[in-house]
Amino acid sequence: MKARVWIKLVLAVVVISMSGCEKKDATVKGPEAKEIGQMSANTESFGKTPDGKQVDLYTLTNTRGIRARITSFGAILVSLEVPDRDGNLADITLGFDKLDGYTGVHPYFGAIVGRYANRIGKAAFKLDGVEYKLAANDGVNHLHGGTKGFDKAVWRLEDLGVKGAGAVVKLSYISEDGEEGYPGNLACSVTYTLTEDDKLKISYEAETDKKTVVNLTNHSYFNLAGQGTGDILGHELMLNADKYTVVDEGLIPTGENRNVKGTPMDFTTPMTIGSRIGQVEGGYDHNYVLNSGGGTLALAAKAYEPASGRVMEIHTDQPGVQFYTGNFLDGSVTGKAGKVYRKNYGFCLETQHFPDSPNKPGFPSVVLFPGQRYSTVTAYKFSTK
Ligand code: GLA
Repeated sequence: MKARVWIKLVLAVVVISMSGCEKKDATVKGPEAKEIGQMSANTESFGKTPDGKQVDLYTLTNTRGIRARITSFGAILVSLEVPDRDGNLADITLGFDKLDGYTGVHPYFGAIVGRYANRIGKAAFKLDGVEYKLAANDGVNHLHGGTKGFDKAVWRLEDLGVKGAGAVVKLSYISEDGEEGYPGNLACSVTYTLTEDDKLKISYEAETDKKTVVNLTNHSYFNLAGQGTGDILGHELMLNADKYTVVDEGLIPTGENRNVKGTPMDFTTPMTIGSRIGQVEGGYDHNYVLNSGGGTLALAAKAYEPASGRVMEIHTDQPGVQFYTGNFLDGSVTGKAGKVYRKNYGFCLETQHFPDSPNKPGFPSVVLFPGQRYSTVTAYKFSTK
């Protein structure tokens, strides 16, 4: 045990000194570098958690001026600035300017959600006949990893710098055996890569020492017109999914995957989010069954905001995506730049395994075995039209 702590300390020193070097060398000019647009990866302090832990903020930029800021608290994507059709940058994600917004109660703005993103029915599941009880933090069900999910953990910096693929920050977190009721020590990492072809790629890796369940996602709320500027009902959306998982009143799948054809759930051809939202009780908060089936990187969704011309395409290797229209935002949260977030001010496309998979043998498996590696990728590609 002592040796393990010592090894961790040495590793931490190596990583810290490496990131120090990277920082100096990180700013390199791309082929068409502008004043604002050098490819870079930098770090600064984001303050301290209420219990005194240091939290950092990392900024990744590419030569077109796209800028992503990520914090070690919850591995949260704090902001994402992308150009409109005239080249003007706007921050397209909801969130907070300061750390205390994120350490307080908030609806998972920008966060990495785990150990199990989305819901687990009756807050329990069984593995090999053993029942694991989790926090019932959404009525009788378990939501987004529990009372203190991965979104509330301070992650460790593993890597920061400009690499072949782009500007990179890699963060890691060890979720201990029994944390929030889940079995097995789970060593996870999340890598954000901002590429020169205007993609923000998020890669997730995890390994366990005991059979467990894993489902990681990013819970960013997008508004392609700019965060806090209004609702997202005028965005056009395409979802590459012919089916969705039908849910009960607690938003737990019944097991039926229903065809979207001829219903307000159909986004197989681009439709504005608001055109039929009134026919969906409470708004959209559903898991779509992606046509790809998961396993290979494929187009899951495409969103377009007509006034700014911004387009976001999402590719993932996950089998599902939760489409959520910020139905629970009610104006009680004041976010970045003093903007008040009202109902439908952002939409989430949480790439994931289906909700309640640990209790649904018919759904793709979320079980991770010792010796296996959980490894998934979701990429958000930005352009304009
Ligand atoms: C997910 C869920 C929603 C809601 C939000 C957070 O998207 O599906 O029901 O819980 O997270 O507010």
